[in-house]
Amino acid sequence: MLSITPVPSRPSGQKNVLKLTCEPLEVVRIGMIGLGVRAIRAINRFMYIDGIEIKGICDIVPSNIKQAQQILQTHHKPEAAEYAGAETWKSLCERPDIDLLYICTDWETHTPIAVYGMECGKHVALEVPSSTTVSECWQLVDTAEKMRRHCMMLENCCYDPFELTVLNMVQKGILGEIIHAEGAYIHDLRARILSNEYGKRKAGNWQTQYNAGHTGNPYPTHGLGPICQALNMHRGDKMNRLVSMSTQSIGMNLFAKEVYGENSSEAKLPHKLGDMNTTLICTEKEKTMMIQHNIASPRPYSRLYLLNGTKGYVQKYPVPQFAFYPDSDSALNREDMKLLLEKHKHPFLIRIGEKADEVCGGRANDFIMDYRLIHCLRNGLPLDQDVYDAAEWSCLVELTEMSILNGNIPVEIPDFTRGDWNKLSKLEFAG
Ligand SMILES: NC(=O)c1ccc[n+]([C@@H]2O[C@H](COP(=O)([O-])OP(=O)(O)OC[C@H]3O[C@@H](n4cnc5c(N)ncnc54)[C@H](O)[C@@H]3O)[C@@H](O)[C@H]2O)c1
Repeated sequence: MLSITPVPSRPSGQKNVLKLTCEPLEVVRIGMIGLGVRAIRAINRFMYIDGIEIKGICDIVPSNIKQAQQILQTHHKPEAAEYAGAETWKSLCERPDIDLLYICTDWETHTPIAVYGMECGKHVALEVPSSTTVSECWQLVDTAEKMRRHCMMLENCCYDPFELTVLNMVQKGILGEIIHAEGAYIHDLRARILSNEYGKRKAGNWQTQYNAGHTGNPYPTHGLGPICQALNMHRGDKMNRLVSMSTQSIGMNLFAKEVYGENSSEAKLPHKLGDMNTTLICTEKEKTMMIQHNIASPRPYSRLYLLNGTKGYVQKYPVPQFAFYPDSDSALNREDMKLLLEKHKHPFLIRIGEKADEVCGGRANDFIMDYRLIHCLRNGLPLDQDVYDAAEWSCLVELTEMSILNGNIPVEIPDFTRGDWNKLSKLEFAG
């Protein structure tokens, strides 16, 4: 089995940040960094959440800053301080009147900004994946522990109404003990990232560039997050090792040929990422997980979200289904499934589900996520996702690639809690 690096020892006096609580904040003063698609949507959502102020906005593209400022103006909010330029996020991090940095830049800038932000005493929320290397994951963990600051990866799929309600059922024991789980990010993104309309490949889109140079699973957290929560990772169990395999890379260039022509330079760009990546994970308690990634071949959107328990079974995609012992081999009918989901509706949905639907339409998960982040910060509560979640879910980016480059060899998954994975017995959401 391959082992990436020795676990860096925890400096003496430094403690874990499991269930970290910090001083309550009456108003959460936010600095937004990277004002692209995700951040603009987040700013819109923040307009409907009490107890926040957007103090600073930062991007390298002036028109994005203008767009963000426009949202504040439309909602009669004070103008935010503007930071334009590639390194200006440092000045935003250094402002004394910021409590939370909300980081929505490209993958490779998340960790450096988050680490600097925490060093400046700020809490950080960062988009997925938090990091692209194991070393970056350790930097997040070490800085959060040293500075006693929250570091939450914005894994919004953990807040999908279906996943939340199933988690509630799992925590009540309705599916028995979960022995196997599956998750995925299967989303044919080629039209988005290669089409002339977006022109992103021509413009050197960061996602396409990253994928051109890497194999493995560069985007594991949407699939992994909700199933790790169901399996209580680092709260009584931990991921020990993985094995990863990828198919050859065909889909991106096939599509580019159609859009740009057989002999175009775009169709000949190198693209290392295999079309379908499949990764198997084994945990300390001998539970298994399967995670897939595929953004380059035809298939309806899927995150799988499958849980196999000793008493019951659930899957979300391609169609939601439950089955329960002793009628194990027949799926619950639609009406009974509806009643079941209603009966075990997650408390977050009861509290803010309606408002989330009103504000975000079909993207209630994003609103619930932001609402919970702000609620916990304002009340001095532990956040729903901690820095170990971010590290565990993101470390697959590098570890899956390592496995493949070494002939699909098993690779050890580091214990980012450094031995404290058994200190908590299960996942619990505060307040
Ligand atoms: N959770 C989800 O469902 C979901 C969906 C889409 C994207 N994402 C994630 O969100 C992140 C952003 O994705 P996006 O689609 O908004 O990308 P985007 O390209 O639209 O936005 C990124 C922004 O960061 C800015 N930026 C880059 N470097 C910067 C720097 N040094 N300083 C300041 N700004 C900088 C860019 O100018 C751009 O405006 C990615 O990590 C992505 O994986 C998550």
